[in-house]
Amino acid sequence: MDRVLRGRVLGFAREPQGVDDLAALTWFEDGAIAIRGGLIAAVGDYAEVARQAPDLAVTDHRPHLILPGFIDAHIHFPQGQIVGSWGEQLLDWLNTYTFPAETRFADRAHADRMAGAFFDLLLANGTTTASAFCSVHPTSVDAYFTEAERRGLRMLGGKVLMDRNAPEALRDTPQTAYDDSMALIARWHGRGRAGYVISPRFAITSTPAQMEAAQALTQAHPDLLIQTHLSENRAEIDLACSLYPQADGYLDIYARYGLVGPGALLGHSIHLTGRERAVIAETGAHPVHCPTSNMFLGSGLFDEAGLRGQGILSGIATDIGAGMSWSMLRTAGAAYSIAQLQGQKLDPLRAFWWITRGNAEVLGLADRIGTLDPGSEADLVVLDSRATPDLALRMEAARDLKDELFVLTVLGDDRAVAETYAMGRPVKPR
Ligand code: GUN
Ligand code: ZN
Repeated sequence: MDRVLRGRVLGFAREPQGVDDLAALTWFEDGAIAIRGGLIAAVGDYAEVARQAPDLAVTDHRPHLILPGFIDAHIHFPQGQIVGSWGEQLLDWLNTYTFPAETRFADRAHADRMAGAFFDLLLANGTTTASAFCSVHPTSVDAYFTEAERRGLRMLGGKVLMDRNAPEALRDTPQTAYDDSMALIARWHGRGRAGYVISPRFAITSTPAQMEAAQALTQAHPDLLIQTHLSENRAEIDLACSLYPQADGYLDIYARYGLVGPGALLGHSIHLTGRERAVIAETGAHPVHCPTSNMFLGSGLFDEAGLRGQGILSGIATDIGAGMSWSMLRTAGAAYSIAQLQGQKLDPLRAFWWITRGNAEVLGLADRIGTLDPGSEADLVVLDSRATPDLALRMEAARDLKDELFVLTVLGDDRAVAETYAMGRPVKPR
């Protein structure tokens, strides 16, 4: 699968410091990426790359953009069939729609079929890595990683830990949560491209004894990421704090069990106190913005610029099935709107950095994915900025690259994804 891809090549060497910080870009108008053994071997002007790699066949994607594949920092594998479930906010939405859907993932055949659909949708949208919550059942994790491995994808995920405030069929125990997670870590973590994430669902569905089990897991595997939910909804915060009366706020519940550090991915993190923001900044933990989900469930406005101003590195994610779109382009567009509601401006360079290199940094994987650095894995997305009539009409009037990128986040989705590559292989479902 060695080849040269030719097109308008765009990546990020570092975090852009403003809408005019073009120096942060890796940008070649007539560019190319040489791929050998699934890795990026060279990036540059087409003429130069072609000279370096005369042996490689060229796939010509001009005039399309070629970028690092998109990364989704928070998604729920068992929730593909509850997108667009009407009428509830978080806690009632979980009980009414989410938990019944997740119950079905005890069945391996169902989980296998959903895994096929799940990765089809991610790849159709140009997403080459995601960090997923699977269901409580180890079968769901096996289905998830088996299908990811079959497709050669770098995927992260883990079984949710939940031993209360959920239907019987979705409850584990502190001991089975520990034992099953340890077995899954042994089976999957570091096998091929798989990465296991310790996944206590949220404080409401874990007893203190289970939080201790989560802590024991992180002590046994200090190199693993941890993902959970934090301060998404006011009723959720009140219930979580009432279940842990000794904790000094919601974040402190997790902190007491040693779960808050640079490997912590804190989904939503909307209604944070000043103290909680300071703790997140001090510990290097990562809030994860889920903009379409926060609009869908009426959860609130994520303070992207404010958190950044405190030196906090946040991720961005679809949060399917509360999220309204599988597309990281759409997700970035929604983040722009939520910023606008707070008088903030999310600029297009930052948005594209965020859904590629930024999320890779959040996941601790920027040495492998999210960039065009030679040696990194050739997970790429090819974008057709004129894919639809509305995009084509609008792009006639696009003034520059920034304009083009911004419009892609407003009007773009899977239809703008011309191809997706994983380790240099084309993987967009047809
Ligand atoms: N909090 C706990 N579980 C979930 C979930 O599945 N989705 C969302 N949006 N929030 C949660
Ligand atoms: Zn979530």
